[in-house]
Amino acid sequence: MATNAADPPPVSGAEGFSFRDDRTTGRPDDRTRQYIHPVAIGDVRLENNLLLAPMAGYTNVAFRLIAKEVGGCGMVATEMVAAIGRETRGQAERFRLLTRNLPQERPIAMQVYGREPELCAETAAALERAGADIVDLNCGCPVKKAKQAGCGVALMKEPEQVGRIVAAMVAATSRPVMVKMRLGFDAQNRTMIEVAHAAVENGAKALCVHARTGESKHGVPVDLSGLAEVRRFVPAHLPVFANGSMDTAAAIRAAKDEAGADGYMIGRAACGDPWLFRNLIAELTGGQPHRPSIAERRALLLRHFDLILDLYGEERGVRVMRKYSFFYCNGLPGVRRFRGDFARIDSRANFQAMIDAFFGQIERGEISGPAEHLTLAGEGEADEA
Ligand SMILES: Cc1cc2nc3c(=O)[nH]c(=O)nc-3n(C[C@H](O)[C@H](O)[C@H](O)COP(=O)(O)O)c2cc1C
Repeated sequence: MATNAADPPPVSGAEGFSFRDDRTTGRPDDRTRQYIHPVAIGDVRLENNLLLAPMAGYTNVAFRLIAKEVGGCGMVATEMVAAIGRETRGQAERFRLLTRNLPQERPIAMQVYGREPELCAETAAALERAGADIVDLNCGCPVKKAKQAGCGVALMKEPEQVGRIVAAMVAATSRPVMVKMRLGFDAQNRTMIEVAHAAVENGAKALCVHARTGESKHGVPVDLSGLAEVRRFVPAHLPVFANGSMDTAAAIRAAKDEAGADGYMIGRAACGDPWLFRNLIAELTGGQPHRPSIAERRALLLRHFDLILDLYGEERGVRVMRKYSFFYCNGLPGVRRFRGDFARIDSRANFQAMIDAFFGQIERGEISGPAEHLTLAGEGEADEA
């Protein structure tokens, strides 16, 4: 199973494709494909190796569509879907909302959250029917409720259970199964190799490694040596994606150069900045990054809102949008105040008026002061980093 540490960085996801050939011919574009390139997860080919991370409460169909259309990311992901029954009307409706998807956002990964192999398998099959191209298992969620239930990052303490869940999911779906994991439950329990082994032995076709342990806050630097260990261990034809603050070209270069990552999954930084994907692609392939104008940000924020209203209706849509809107204004002066205003929006009309007021003031230069940056906190962390 283990590959030789002296081997060149593996080129993964090459099953059925000739990425290795493309990348070693010495043609002028070889250098530009060093970091950004197509990748395959089982039989699913991704145009590029930048993935949108699953984020509960955020990666609904509206956000995913925008990340795909505007950013051009290689794959999007749904919010996690709990492996529980879907018998009641409430459960069925929640499942429908979480998995609602559109052809133009594909390929799409849908994520199972749970610990019982049978229920996870049933959920994987339901996700396939709902349109999943990839079915993912959550072994990373660090919130207290997940830990208490033996789910999410708690599974990092139980590699054998991960193996049983993956085996059941693989048997239940024709879609490739991926495992999204951390380096371990905590610094004392770095079980990434045991979990990677269990996942791959039981048929997982890709791993995504959030290169921190379960107790590390998102501000803690990622541990690329742990990621490199996983990459060396996993057979070269199975891609290993890096996750955790992969939001700059420097971070991506480091994940590739130091750990041999085959792709990069981005979460928080894409909120309000779907251009990030294409800007990273541009930066890493010698292209020109695009700085969205104020007018573009405003137009996209309104489009996002309309998509959310379409998905949830006005009452719930407004609540969902309260936590998104200010991200589109990140880096502008006055964002903190704007965020406070947004906590009070209660209708489409009210929203439009606030947007017009804020962006109007920015355009007329009426709000001055330093650029203000807000970051989405990690799961289970305080709301502002
Ligand atoms: C609000 C929020 C919700 C999240 N929900 C999920 C989830 O449903 N499933 C999952 O595997 N990870 C979830 N994550 C973790 C992200 O997928 C990602 O691993 C983490 O944010 C690190 O990547 P980043 O630094 O690019 O944000 C969530 C993170 C945040 C901030």
